[in-house]
Amino acid sequence: MPADPKSEYILELENVSKYFGSVIALRDVTVRLRRGEVHCLLGDNGAGKSTLIKILAGCHRPSEGTFKVDGEPVALKSPSDALDRGIATVYQDLALVPLMSVARNFFMGREPIRRVGGVFRLFHREHAEEIACAKLADMGIKVRDAEQAVGTMSGGERQCLAIARAIHFGARVLILDEPTAALGVRQSANVPGPARKASPSSSSPTTSTTPIRSATRSRSSTVAAPWERSARERSSATRCST
Ligand SMILES: Nc1ncnc2c1ncn2[C@@H]1O[C@H](COP(=O)(O)OP(=O)(O)OP(=O)(O)O)[C@@H](O)[C@H]1O
Ligand SMILES: [Mg+2]
Repeated sequence: MPADPKSEYILELENVSKYFGSVIALRDVTVRLRRGEVHCLLGDNGAGKSTLIKILAGCHRPSEGTFKVDGEPVALKSPSDALDRGIATVYQDLALVPLMSVARNFFMGREPIRRVGGVFRLFHREHAEEIACAKLADMGIKVRDAEQAVGTMSGGERQCLAIARAIHFGARVLILDEPTAALGVRQSANVPGPARKASPSSSSPTTSTTPIRSATRSRSSTVAAPWERSARERSSATRCST
């Protein structure tokens, strides 16, 4: 239950820093996300984009600063803690298991269950395969066999699987770390639409990171450098943070 449903911001980082020993990965970062906004985080390699994403996703805790969800300061203990609060993430390394099937990867940790004899709880394979194939088809990916190992898929297909999974389970906030790096033109074009539809009310903020070189190629509409934004874009709900 959100602490303050009327809070203007769904997620806030205030003066957040992250240190790994003597490495300063982030220093004094402030980010605020309102419902319905799409943010793009730009930065060179090693700038700290993934570290910021991992803080939002509950993988890392900030060394300094405050992290608020719905206006309430939180200390997320794990990614599943973040998921429980509706913060879904597609990581740069995709977090897939190559030896497991498409359907198994799609539902990893949130498997649909069917009961046998009222006692045994088994993985509902047919249901999982049907949903996984349908959601990938929405992304423009035709899966030959939902039982095929993810290791047999191309890099772009794997990226679509990770994005489709996050969209399917991402209730309120969808975070994408370099979401279109391995995608083709058609699949890249499919990312912003489903991302905006991630919640039934279409009110989820979406945060996407990209290296500056990709942003200047502008393969995705979620990617725009602040100096390129038109007045119309500035007045719309799409925000761009550096
Ligand atoms: N677990 C860690 N331990 C030590 N240093 C780390 C760790 N994670 C990140 N760093 C360092 O923090 C800095 C920021 O890394 P990060 O992965 O956030 O960059 P990035 O902006 O995502 O880069 P890229 O565009 O290459 O993905 C880098 O110098 C990196 O070496
Ligand atoms: Mg990164």
